[in-house]
Amino acid sequence: MTSFLPLPDFPASRPRRNRRDDFSRRLVREHTLSADDFIYPAFVTEGQGVQQPISSMPGIVRYSPDTLMAVAEQCLELGVPVLALFPAIDSTLKTPDGIEAANPDGLIPRVVSQLKQRFPELGILTDVALDPYTSHGQDGVIDQDGYVINDVTTEILVKQALVQAQAGVDIVAPSDMMDGRIGAVRQALEANGHIHTRIMAYSAKYASAFYGPFRDAVGSAANLGRSNKATYQMDPANRNEALREVAADIREGADMVMVKPGMPYLDVLRDVKQAFGVPTFAYQVSGEYAMLKAAAANGWLDHDKVMMESLLAFKRAGGDGILTYFALEAAQLLREQK
Ligand code: PBG
Repeated sequence: MTSFLPLPDFPASRPRRNRRDDFSRRLVREHTLSADDFIYPAFVTEGQGVQQPISSMPGIVRYSPDTLMAVAEQCLELGVPVLALFPAIDSTLKTPDGIEAANPDGLIPRVVSQLKQRFPELGILTDVALDPYTSHGQDGVIDQDGYVINDVTTEILVKQALVQAQAGVDIVAPSDMMDGRIGAVRQALEANGHIHTRIMAYSAKYASAFYGPFRDAVGSAANLGRSNKATYQMDPANRNEALREVAADIREGADMVMVKPGMPYLDVLRDVKQAFGVPTFAYQVSGEYAMLKAAAANGWLDHDKVMMESLLAFKRAGGDGILTYFALEAAQLLREQK
């Protein structure tokens, strides 16, 4: 907590004293980054030996299950605690209700059980939402007006989460923003004996234009077309509403909460951590990654410096960890700097 003691006047107070030397800068440093802070999001697709580049996300590819194993190994090697999985499934499997999301033999459950068998000590997180599975690219089932129907969608999300838990996932992360879904998922997990499955709730998830490259990566952008997600994701203008969303998710059984996107919403991250003090995460989303990569590629920004500064900002704002496409690069850099 900040102390409001009046500072002595200059020259009794010379703030530059502590900044003069590296040793004292290190000594008074308030926040640090470590590989423990990172969750690495990875895109998965069917096939063998696949590493398909995503043009709007330099350095990020879609992995087939076999090539993903090497990524898991890298996470373990670098000390990144959690790998988060996002599917890019074949378009022939996409339907209006996205029911492939609840297929126990689907891509994600298969990959989860492979990963947990080979690397039991690596945390695995899966997204709970229907957008990678729906033919229209929305996160749920829609009515004739294109409105996402809350309770019908939640029922499918519950099935999806159960299938993921059955496959052995450590953390389910509902990213759909349906009302009441955290409670529904928690109840179903408990009722089916999955008492250890953690829920990381995308609690304050905004209807953001920064998700563009992600939608290319999971192949939902074209299907979504010109429609948006404003009837369920939050209005970027709102701050108090984020606190109500987080409060509801905690009451319903979330173990961890998230604010998303990251950099443009540090104020919300700060508020959430201060108000609730629960494990709080930020998602530095695809568009934020793309933005920094593009500027660095042009020589306009120093890649490593802005990467580390952007990540440290999440810690300073109160985040306990960060979902970031920079996770492996940043962990590597932290290791080299030691
Ligand atoms: C799925 C989901 C999205 C992201 C994570 N889970 C996209 C969306 O809501 O449209 C975005 C992640 C990113 O942009 O990196 N609901």
